[in-house]
Amino acid sequence: MCGLFFVLVACTMGASAFRIQQVESTEKCPDHTVYFKHYYELHGEPVVLKCPSPRYKHLDFSALTLNITWYKNDSKTMISGREEDPRIWAKGDALWFLPAMLEDSGVYICSRRNASYCAEVSIHLTVVEKTAAREISYPQVLFTFTAGNIVCPDLWDFTQNKTDLELKWYKDALPLEDNNEKFVRLEGSNTLIITSVLPTDCGYYTCKMSFPYEGVMYEITRTIRLETVEQEKRITPVIVYPTQKTTSAALGSRMTLPCKVFVGLSRYVYTEVEWLANNTIVDVAYEQSRVTVGERQETIENGEKFIEVPLIFDSVKEVDFYTDFKCLARNGYGYQVLPTRVKQEAVGMSWYTAMIPIALACVILMGICIHKCWKQRADKGYTIAKV
Ligand SMILES: *[C@@H]1O[C@H](CO)[C@@H](O)[C@H](O)[C@H]1NC(C)=O
Ligand SMILES: *[C@@H]1O[C@H](CO)[C@@H](O)[C@H](O)[C@H]1NC(C)=O
Ligand SMILES: *[C@@H]1O[C@H](CO)[C@@H](O)[C@H](O)[C@H]1NC(C)=O
Ligand SMILES: *[C@@H]1O[C@H](CO)[C@@H](O)[C@H](O)[C@H]1NC(C)=O
Ligand SMILES: *[C@@H]1O[C@H](CO)[C@@H](O)[C@H](O)[C@H]1NC(C)=O
Repeated sequence: MCGLFFVLVACTMGASAFRIQQVESTEKCPDHTVYFKHYYELHGEPVVLKCPSPRYKHLDFSALTLNITWYKNDSKTMISGREEDPRIWAKGDALWFLPAMLEDSGVYICSRRNASYCAEVSIHLTVVEKTAAREISYPQVLFTFTAGNIVCPDLWDFTQNKTDLELKWYKDALPLEDNNEKFVRLEGSNTLIITSVLPTDCGYYTCKMSFPYEGVMYEITRTIRLETVEQEKRITPVIVYPTQKTTSAALGSRMTLPCKVFVGLSRYVYTEVEWLANNTIVDVAYEQSRVTVGERQETIENGEKFIEVPLIFDSVKEVDFYTDFKCLARNGYGYQVLPTRVKQEAVGMSWYTAMIPIALACVILMGICIHKCWKQRADKGYTIAKV
């Protein structure tokens, strides 16, 4: 059951995480970019989307900082200030959701314009149920047998005016006590120190912060999936994403499969990240360029460097279900390979929803079997006793 749950979680992630749809460009705004960061948030919690900074990719917005407008892709009506809608409002380069709801999932477009020019960026937001927090967890990596920090990420938009953060920490849903020798909280900061990391420290960590806003108390939750890595491997790259062996995709859909690599202490060494299809370079395997390798993105998260290289499917075709994909990360110290496959998504109902009744039926069947077995034994016992 545990295994099944894991598969369910992994696959739900696969199904929702990697789909990027085509964005329609309006004739007024010729320059359209898709923001690399996909926001994953929890239902009922405050969310802030930020229009990317004046210099993003090839664009230079510096002359366009004054007039920023926000739209949700499917509505095309401008999102206004808080006076109009107390739940979703735009302010400067930020779009606030207080709080976000499941139905807010979608693509938001911020456009920056001046009298003669306009550029827009689309930002993907997915809001999930609170029970699905692990599916949207942040990967973090620590080395064993040394001290390490876990950082409660993405709090900046809510903590700008604060110097004393009060966070509650949990490991696998159990609260971490205050006077714990192993886990030390840095007062007022977003960091949890593990004094000596053991392989058993891997798992899910949750941090919670209260966020009062105009008399209402909101809660912000972040879930971290901690992976521990042996000391000897500390300078070799670690692939933290994808975590699953297969990703579901519908035929004809556009899909992006990111390969995210943690480069840890080797951050000053060049780490090559590439995708292979059937053990050959993607450009060779897919001469028509239906599947391509996207732009390499280097990000610093919590002071650690990650490299992300996406594999982009313009339109998923049947042949992709029979192709072996591999993400390969290597530097001068070592390498890691992660094989992965694309799997056809069940039509109509998503397959994991379909799996739930099957899993339930299995449990019930097992229950009946066990019950019968016991009854038979009990009956036998009784017969023998009677004889
Ligand atoms: C945006 O909306 C249009 C029309 O409503 C739709 O065809 C398109 O797929 C949407 N794009 C995204 C990225 O959701
Ligand atoms: C508008 O922005 C573009 C791009 O940054 C710039 O080249 C242009 O001079 C700006 N126009 C005005 C009127 O400010
Ligand atoms: C910003 O753009 C909107 C829509 O194009 C326009 O109505 C408004 O006057 C502009 N504001 C400024 C300060 O340029
Ligand atoms: C921080 O303070 C400024 C002004 O004091 C205010 O405009 C802003 O909304 C505050 N930010 C948060 C996140 O509370
Ligand atoms: C990869 O190999 C499989 C099995 O040999 C084949 O069916 C598939 O078409 C190949 N994929 C590509 C993209 O050539």
